[in-house]
Amino acid sequence: MQKLFLLSFLILFSCGEKEKELSNETLTLIPEPQEITVYKGAHTLHKTIPFYAEEGFELASNFLSEYLQRSGFSLQNNRENDAQFIIKKDSLLPKEGYTLSVNEDIILLKAKDASGAFYGVQTVRQLLPVSLEQLNSSPNPTTTLPLVDIVDFPKFPYRGMHLDVSRHFFDKEFVKKYISYLAMLKMNYFHWHLTEDQGWRIEIKKYPKLTTHSAFRNETLIGHYSETPQQFDGERYGGFYTQEDIKEIVAYAQKLNITIIPEIEMPGHAQAAISAYPELGCTGESIPVATLWGVFEDIYCPKEETFAFLEEVLTEVVTLFPGEYIHIGGDEAPKAHWENCSHCQALIKKEGLKDEHELQSYFITRIEKFLNSKGKKIIGWDEILEGGLAPNATVMSWRSTEGGIAAAKQKHNVIMTPGSHCYFDHYQSKNENEPLAIGGFTSLEKVYSFNPIPAELSEEEVQYILGAQGNVWTEYMKTEDKVEYMVFPRILALSEVDWKGPSKEFEKDYADFKQRLKAFTERMDVLKINYAPHLGEE
Ligand code: ACM
Ligand code: ZN
Repeated sequence: MQKLFLLSFLILFSCGEKEKELSNETLTLIPEPQEITVYKGAHTLHKTIPFYAEEGFELASNFLSEYLQRSGFSLQNNRENDAQFIIKKDSLLPKEGYTLSVNEDIILLKAKDASGAFYGVQTVRQLLPVSLEQLNSSPNPTTTLPLVDIVDFPKFPYRGMHLDVSRHFFDKEFVKKYISYLAMLKMNYFHWHLTEDQGWRIEIKKYPKLTTHSAFRNETLIGHYSETPQQFDGERYGGFYTQEDIKEIVAYAQKLNITIIPEIEMPGHAQAAISAYPELGCTGESIPVATLWGVFEDIYCPKEETFAFLEEVLTEVVTLFPGEYIHIGGDEAPKAHWENCSHCQALIKKEGLKDEHELQSYFITRIEKFLNSKGKKIIGWDEILEGGLAPNATVMSWRSTEGGIAAAKQKHNVIMTPGSHCYFDHYQSKNENEPLAIGGFTSLEKVYSFNPIPAELSEEEVQYILGAQGNVWTEYMKTEDKVEYMVFPRILALSEVDWKGPSKEFEKDYADFKQRLKAFTERMDVLKINYAPHLGEE
């Protein structure tokens, strides 16, 4: 940290040819940078901006160029000496970090790597007037940037959001929009929950029934699960992404520095797949794609046929997703069928396993070995701890932070997503007119107060906590508008926890965040984001 202070001092010093007067203007950046100094004055953007970027910063340059072009500005490549916007490498900066120095004449962005420069550009974007978010053919002649010195880097290497597209399906344009929001907030992982009891959403060429059959259910529950009698809408519902759609979305995400983690659930939440291929289950019985929410007993049976199926599915999945992680689920797999299945019981004996939990561990470990052989790492929900962790698995701690603590103590990487702070399908307000949600209560304040690092961990163990993720299960989100309503503004709080780090002085920091959030609504308005009105005053 001390190094960084020295660094920021040097930046201030080197930019200080002209006397700079401090300004007390407050900026509305979310997530807030680590260190920020604002000066009096402004940098006026020219219609054509002389631009220079060192090699390796194409991600940042391309985003900037496309973003500015929409409002009639353009970058004109120039020599460094003649440029007004410069992106340069500084290998002393932290990973994904950047410094941004804006004075009246020059915008100087320095980064260690491509990600850092991209985040620096996202900061520039947020420093620019919100009107630039809108397509606008003529540049405003007085578009300005405040004069700043910023030193910035992320607290956590994993900053993620999840989206369940199985309970309700969202088309590829919405998925892209969702990814674009993550990028704006300096998040870097999109966890795409693609398979479920109620719908399989990814085309697998080898198993066409996964899309002709498993992607559709006969009807959907109306209202909340707990309402009696339960009523259904009688309408066939579904959809899926072709492999071409997926390639398009992956390419789009790459341009925004977002890695997609596909989730292919096993051994549970597999009813839609088993519905198409009943031989994958223990009973072989024909079952429908689920129409109700919840946890179902029809899970994959760990027989050779099932492993062959999963390996073939995963072989297609790994070719579509270039990121290092594949999420294999692992949550909520009831063991009733395994207890009554002669194959499962014989396998437990043959492998010398203690019980069905160890059988699940055998299942996941076998899949991990397969994926590791393809150069991929697995992530699983915290139930994968039961019966013993697969050797290289990363644990997503959702039921609480306990699973994450146990995994970190076993020297496994952890992503924190506890229901208490990170489930954006919970209610965010106690207002009685709140639209239907699954239950729970996770207010903006609660999200902002999250500390992904549990006090129980030693300094050595803390390194295994990679960061936090917000989960968006869509049983009660039928529309894109509803997803945005549940995600915003809570995602803004989470982005700050992940990027800036957990708040050290909660009262003060949260009050400051709420002020910035109020101003940030202007940007969300221009972007037409359907954010909930719960801005911390509910
Ligand atoms: C989960 O919420 N079932 C991971
Ligand atoms: Zn079985």
